[in-house]
Amino acid sequence: MLEKQEMIRKSFNEDLANVTNTNMLNDLKVKYLGKKGLITELTSNMKELSIEERKEVGRVSNELKNELTNSLNALESELKLKELNEKLASEKIDISLPATKVPVGAPNVLEKVIEEVEELLMSMGYDVVDGPEIEEDKFNFEMLNIPKGHPARDAQDTFYIQDEEILLRSQTSPVQARTMLKGEGKTPIRMICPGKTYRRDDDDATHSHQFMQIEGLLVDKNISLSDLKGTFDAIAKKLFGEDCKTRFRPSYYQFTEPSVETDISCFVCKGEGCSLCKNTGWITVSGAGMVHPNVLRNCGYDPNEWSGFAFGFGAERLAMLKYGINDIRFFYQTDLRELSTFDRKDSE
Ligand code: DAH
Repeated sequence: MLEKQEMIRKSFNEDLANVTNTNMLNDLKVKYLGKKGLITELTSNMKELSIEERKEVGRVSNELKNELTNSLNALESELKLKELNEKLASEKIDISLPATKVPVGAPNVLEKVIEEVEELLMSMGYDVVDGPEIEEDKFNFEMLNIPKGHPARDAQDTFYIQDEEILLRSQTSPVQARTMLKGEGKTPIRMICPGKTYRRDDDDATHSHQFMQIEGLLVDKNISLSDLKGTFDAIAKKLFGEDCKTRFRPSYYQFTEPSVETDISCFVCKGEGCSLCKNTGWITVSGAGMVHPNVLRNCGYDPNEWSGFAFGFGAERLAMLKYGINDIRFFYQTDLRELSTFDRKDSE
């Protein structure tokens, strides 16, 4: 019996000397102390022994069991500490290393210009509204005093979707009609509508089959052209600086009377004459005018009682002027390297 005990002790000590990690240690536990382990085996023939012998075997195996358990526990604590230290060392973070640079997105310059106009007009009590891009001929043209067959339609080469009735809106002006109809004769109406518009144009540096406009409309009592001038003046100053001057030139739109083209003083040459303003000292930025009595009437407002003004900016044109972009296709090619140059400009 004692011989067996000694053999197990010896083989255990040899095995223990080779253990280098907790997995090996667990295997060893199973080998010696497990249900089918070597110590259990010591007591496997108890039934065949006398009481005296049993006592002896019990004592010896318990002694061995305690001894092995103590050795295993001691080594276990040692290995656990070692493994923890190794883990900590391998996961150490070097906080002095420079961080990986994550590219940060920035607002699109077109969006920024639109937001500037929105912000200003909202502060003046305007609502920002939306309208459908797939529009009815009725709103895009007829309500705006442009009947079927009228030559004014030719200026806007329209994408028709279904017969002559459903189209991709060629301007944001239909939102004027929709807003007035919704207003059901109530006043004042103060709205702006930035949105996408579509025309059958060939794309080049100044044309795009899809572009954005910012429409504005105000309807109330005693509104005059000077109210339009004051509003336009405020927008121009907000976008192009306090020393920006403005002027109106007579123009023609079917849905406004009188109609004007609105100009800003050239911010490059300050009126001296340069290539941007084609030596005129002025740059045209929108169409505008007093809402035509027929349009007011079509939309449920008595022109004898109410008057209003409207304007329509080309959003890309504003952004091109403000950021010195000379090709409208820039906005739709989504080249991040080019777009990011405007972040830098803004943060300078
Ligand atoms: N809708 C016109 C266009 O696309 C622009 C415009 C002119 C809008 C005069 C207006 C306006 O509201 O009053 O050419």
